[in-house]
Amino acid sequence: MTIARIGIVTSSDRAAAGVYEDISGAAIRGYLESTLTSPFECEYRLVPDDRAVLESTLRELADDAGCCLVLTTGGTGPAPRDVTPEATLAVCDRELPGFGEAMRSASLRSVPTAILSRQTAALRRQTLVINLPGKPAAIAECLDAVFAAVPYCIDLIGGPRLETDPARIVAFRPKGA
Ligand code: MTE
Repeated sequence: MTIARIGIVTSSDRAAAGVYEDISGAAIRGYLESTLTSPFECEYRLVPDDRAVLESTLRELADDAGCCLVLTTGGTGPAPRDVTPEATLAVCDRELPGFGEAMRSASLRSVPTAILSRQTAALRRQTLVINLPGKPAAIAECLDAVFAAVPYCIDLIGGPRLETDPARIVAFRPKGA
């Protein structure tokens, strides 16, 4: 079975400077470990909120590390240094706007400021990039809203077959897929 490579990118000036620990990046890893039953390995990057650095990190994870999935956290809000959606769309070919819509909609049930997140998802060739907000609590909330569709999306772009623990997430694949 192919080992899936999954990128985790934390965009945070303060975490990158060592001011605080990157709890959100660790929460993404924990989420993957408890949800995926097929083999995978993580490629972790902690970068400042810098568009050029983010773009080159996303390119490197997609093209050189061969990640089928890259999950970013942070930098999706309206503050001047929040540039993750711009960096994502700049390096990707096609946007998947449903991911951002579903994650915001789910998050709005718990926090009114969820509307401030400009998070989206997009494809760079054989890599699916999904933006998550920087708040640790947002990680599971947002991933739970979309993860059922992630394995089939990875199938469609020619990536490895991802399997999930159905007690956590039931991966939806149309009949015959
Ligand atoms: N979504 C969830 N599920 N939980 C949250 O706490 N915080 C919101 C929003 N989305 C939040 C959330 C807030 S306060 C902001 S400013 C935006 O995400 C952007 O956060 P980011 O800039 O850290 O990505």
